[in-house]
Amino acid sequence: MALKQGALLTSLDVMRDAPVIPVIVLDDVAHAVPLARALVAGGIRMLEVTLRTPAALACIEAIARDVPAAVAGAGTVRSAADARAAAAAGARFAVSPGYTSAVGETCSELGLPLLPGVATGSEVMAAMEGGYTELKFFPAQQAGGAPMLKAFAGPFQDVRFCPTGGVSPANAREYLALPNVVCVGGSWLTPPESIRDGDWARITQLAREAAALRKG
Ligand code: 3PG
Repeated sequence: MALKQGALLTSLDVMRDAPVIPVIVLDDVAHAVPLARALVAGGIRMLEVTLRTPAALACIEAIARDVPAAVAGAGTVRSAADARAAAAAGARFAVSPGYTSAVGETCSELGLPLLPGVATGSEVMAAMEGGYTELKFFPAQQAGGAPMLKAFAGPFQDVRFCPTGGVSPANAREYLALPNVVCVGGSWLTPPESIRDGDWARITQLAREAAALRKG
């Protein structure tokens, strides 16, 4: 898929671009651009930079400015203020660990595609009430894994998921084989020691392997 600079994306565009959305934690803004370039070189463009560190917003800004082939998104969006800050920094999508109507409504107002986190039927229903049918299943392994998603497929046939949390190369295929799973999320593409050591080649290799995972 060709991505126009600044083009508005949907949640489904974000999920469909590759089989894995990397969950990224960055402590140092100097790492943001080389890391993003390394992931793009391996075929992964949708990058979830978590708002867990003081450097996160500056990292999103740097990627949005300097790596046009990447799409910087914000993870760990927990409030309306987080969503606004992420959009102001140039994030083009948001991921949240749970769903609140405040986060859902703010992202809608901002035109920021959101993958809200859910782990129960009630949470799926709350997210659907807010207009969201593309959801993150979090924490996937701990909340019931692939059998839980199979169970969700009955009552929530119109919902698609990105399981995240405890997903790894060992179990990613099992998730991706499910009809209601579009992609998975995980931190394994960006090991902290590789970021610290500037081992961008390893990250490109991990991205390449993740990009080669297939649905079905
Ligand atoms: C997170 O929010 O930290 C993600 O769920 C990543 O989980 P993982 O480290 O198990 O991939």
